[in-house]
Amino acid sequence: MVSQIRFLMCAPDHYDVDYVINPWMEGNIHKSSRDRAVEQWNKLYNVIKNHAIVDLVAPEKGWPDMVFSANAGLVLGENVVLSRFLHKERQGEEPYFQQWFENNGFNVYTLPKDLPFEGAGDALLDREGRWLWAGYGFRSELDSHPYLAKWLDIEVISLRLMDERFYHLDTCFCPLANGYLLYYPGAFDSYSNRVIEMRVAPEKRIAIEEADAVNFACNAVNVDSIVIMNKASENLKSRLSEVGFQVIETPLTEFLKAGGAAKCLTLRVTEPIGDEIHAIASVESRVIRMEGHLLDAGLINRALDLIVEMGGSFQVLKFNLGEQRQSTSAAEVRVSAPSHEVMEEIISQLIDLGAVDLPQDERDTRLEPVIQAGVAPDDFYVSTIYPTEIRVNGEWLKVQNQRMDGAIAISTTANGIVAKCKLLRDLEIGDKVVVDVFGIRTVRKAESREQRNSQEFSFMSSGVSSERRVELVVEQVAWELRKIKDSGGKVVVTAGPVVIHTGGGEHLCRLVREGYVQGLLGGNAIAVHDMEQNLLGTSLGVDMKRGVAVRGGHRHHLKVINTIRRFGSIAKAVEAGVVKSGVMYECVKNNIPFSLAGSIRDDGPLPDTQMNLILAQQEYSKIIEGADMILMLSSMLHSIGVGNMTPAGVKMVCVDINPAVVTKLSDRGSIESVGVVTDVGLFLSLLTQQLDKLTSPYVANVG
Ligand code: ARG
Repeated sequence: MVSQIRFLMCAPDHYDVDYVINPWMEGNIHKSSRDRAVEQWNKLYNVIKNHAIVDLVAPEKGWPDMVFSANAGLVLGENVVLSRFLHKERQGEEPYFQQWFENNGFNVYTLPKDLPFEGAGDALLDREGRWLWAGYGFRSELDSHPYLAKWLDIEVISLRLMDERFYHLDTCFCPLANGYLLYYPGAFDSYSNRVIEMRVAPEKRIAIEEADAVNFACNAVNVDSIVIMNKASENLKSRLSEVGFQVIETPLTEFLKAGGAAKCLTLRVTEPIGDEIHAIASVESRVIRMEGHLLDAGLINRALDLIVEMGGSFQVLKFNLGEQRQSTSAAEVRVSAPSHEVMEEIISQLIDLGAVDLPQDERDTRLEPVIQAGVAPDDFYVSTIYPTEIRVNGEWLKVQNQRMDGAIAISTTANGIVAKCKLLRDLEIGDKVVVDVFGIRTVRKAESREQRNSQEFSFMSSGVSSERRVELVVEQVAWELRKIKDSGGKVVVTAGPVVIHTGGGEHLCRLVREGYVQGLLGGNAIAVHDMEQNLLGTSLGVDMKRGVAVRGGHRHHLKVINTIRRFGSIAKAVEAGVVKSGVMYECVKNNIPFSLAGSIRDDGPLPDTQMNLILAQQEYSKIIEGADMILMLSSMLHSIGVGNMTPAGVKMVCVDINPAVVTKLSDRGSIESVGVVTDVGLFLSLLTQQLDKLTSPYVANVG
């Protein structure tokens, strides 16, 4: 029976693979057989004619892809949104399709220039007419979706394509009758998969395997219970038949060489308008402004890449290039995202790169009250290491206690409004917390080309650092230590027990004794091993001089813990003359504050070890307050803990034999950080040697 459904097709008179605009065409230029193509197209035409009416648009010489009439435009009711092809190879088809639509009484909408949209190849109506699924990522631009919503008065759901083999939505996605959906999940990003899963019930989703997908099984024409496609596996056919569909296979291999099959070769031109259906486009846009060494420092690339990687799209509205080496550039970029949720994620990342709202758009930050102590409102803005300002009552306010992974809370004090980074657990009822991403900006130091290049101070990505590099870092760290000491600054050391095992203890002692260290952070182990070495000559039972295990040596560290426990604290044991040397001894003698954070594996622990981790975090953050530099010596746990509390601008040096630890800290992405993959004992020994060489301080001479 022929229903009143109509399809538009275009005969393959001029069909060929003449160019490459998708991966299927690669290697196939002029490799398809015209005769076979004609035969396959005729078969498809006849199959469809058995089930619907087929209209024809005349093929045009020089436009070989015109056979793929799905790309003519998108029809809904009397309206059609004409395609704007991305590639110039197909742009010449537009007027012919436009003519056909006009001749057949359609109301034709055309998109602004430079806003690609490839018709029904990238926009598929739910077969119940409830909404329109629209693809973006390769051929169609996200910003075309709001036009579709407006002109066709329908809800548009944006789906992002990720696999270039499935460059059009109709190559991997096919809505079927009765709310079923045939699709290949691997072609979409995870956000889009979630959106699909939210809209289509599990029993209605027919997810196919890659093997079927590459045969263009999703590129199918559905008329009621008939599904026409190039080829399907037995498994897919039986799955479809279980839910009442009959698959008709008709080979289209010649068209696969151009990246198309059954659905691409047709355009359904009768698409009824559902009742009560109206426009909604969840696509959002915002304009942001960036300033700085946008090109030199690669900031603009990072920002634009980030927008696209996170599923958004952009349009650069203005770009004022700073012409002199030292002058900065400014850019205005319109950011689009498929939903509010994705927009928020993109904007918060852009804020980290220093982007701000355009002044005319500028709004106050959004605040929501805390209603349960220790719990932030859902959309709270997560703070970063960068100095941050928020806009309250039209004024920019600097956030205090800057640190990452906190919430920004506002309170009104006698001195006015105060904004502070607070840990979730410290939020109190009545605090107002910054939510969403409006009215927030981070102040990034302008990283110029010069700074970047001269700054050897940057993280190693992986591998052991070369000897020369270790030397260079040591020279630089020594110089910095000297400078900080001379200017009365502050250096904090985080150290793990490996410092002692590798013989670095004596060097660290010197650093403390000679005033290079103003705070020490570690765990139970470093203190125990340090004192074991100094009381008993072993570290975890290993003789430090000879490097061999001592009989019964494993008991040594418990003996040490027991001794310290008897005196009540490390300081008291030092006072009593029991502990006579070592890192802990030097700290006590030189009044250097230290904090030992406990863990589940601690023996003892020492009376000084803080087993309440919330208090330990507080002690740590007190000690790092105002630090100029943090030396992280072979302790992943404590170093990462410290990294999380430290604002940008503090130099960090991370030394570890394990490259993973070093890279982990580099995630902070601040240029003040340096990582060295080397033995920490060796590093400390080189460092003290280097400090000895700096007898006449550079600062005093030159400064
Ligand atoms: N060679 C054509 C192109 O790359 C194939 C179009 C296939 N059409 C489709 N609706 N998927 O544009």
